[in-house]
Amino acid sequence: MKKLLIITSLCLFAALSLSAAGITPNNPLYGTVLAENIPNYQTFGVPFTKLAGEIFWKAFLGIIIAFPIIFALHYFVIGAKTFSHEGKKIYVFSVCMRTFHWIAALAFVILVPTGLVMVFGNLFGGGAFVRSCKNLHAIATVIFALSVIPIIVMMIKDMFPAKDDIKWAMMMGGYLSKKKREIPAGKFNAGQKVWFWIAIPGGFVMILTGAFMFFLNYDLTFFSKLFGTTQIELLRVSAMVHNIFGMLIVVMFFVHVYMSVFAIKGSLHSMIDGHKSEEEVALMHSSWYKKLKKRGEV
Ligand code: HEM
Repeated sequence: MKKLLIITSLCLFAALSLSAAGITPNNPLYGTVLAENIPNYQTFGVPFTKLAGEIFWKAFLGIIIAFPIIFALHYFVIGAKTFSHEGKKIYVFSVCMRTFHWIAALAFVILVPTGLVMVFGNLFGGGAFVRSCKNLHAIATVIFALSVIPIIVMMIKDMFPAKDDIKWAMMMGGYLSKKKREIPAGKFNAGQKVWFWIAIPGGFVMILTGAFMFFLNYDLTFFSKLFGTTQIELLRVSAMVHNIFGMLIVVMFFVHVYMSVFAIKGSLHSMIDGHKSEEEVALMHSSWYKKLKKRGEV
């Protein structure tokens, strides 16, 4: 009788733990399906284990050490660009644009540090802190998702490649020189376009791959069938893609914030009141300025 009680309690405890974790013995990640996946380990399992175990955290560590050093060098050797904010102002960003931009910014300010905590989860001892960051990361993803479509709709027409972009790239946008001179660029320069295409469509990829990982204990058969993989393979690919795109986005986000807050003095004003100084537009977006002048808009 005592034995039966112990066995029943153990079974009950196991069932409760499994259901608390959202795991059932027939879940596509566990039970017999896990064994069926063993022969597929070579396909995505080997690169996933190598990257997740040894490479990703080192690459992220490199990024968070190298980029602040690069920015500090740029700031102290070449210096920030300053433009007169006394003269005329040019209206650049509508209220709607600024609102959705700040929603995206708020989301990223949460996404990046919480993402990094997960990358260095072992360092933080795993557990409740890392789990809370994971949940916060998911909440911020929803906030970010709200901004994606409006930003695309409002900006995409100015984000396609143009002739100026090659000239801009060849002179590195004038950012490696102290001299003030006209830089060939439309409303957005090549660097800003690259940021847009990485952050926004790349953001979609991050949302999708992030969702697959967040809901890993759910039955994702529909999606794994869609991609012609098993659920474990879908998760491994999602984790690899999420980390690789994540690195690219984190680098570009750091650059974007450095440019907006430090490299161009007063740039942040354009995202607060929607205006840029005439001198900044005339020099840094000279082709657009000429167009506006021709149309009599400045
Ligand atoms: C704390 C975070 C952020 C700050 C301080 C910031 C600041 C700014 C500023 C000042 C501008 C105007 C730059 C100019 O045209 O001279 C700008 C533009 C822009 N921002 Fe942000 N931003 C942030 C986060 C984000 C995020 C998370 C996204 C998208 C996911 C984003 C996407 C853009 C885009 C597409 C533009 C127009 C192109 C460009 O100027 O790069 N920003 N941002």
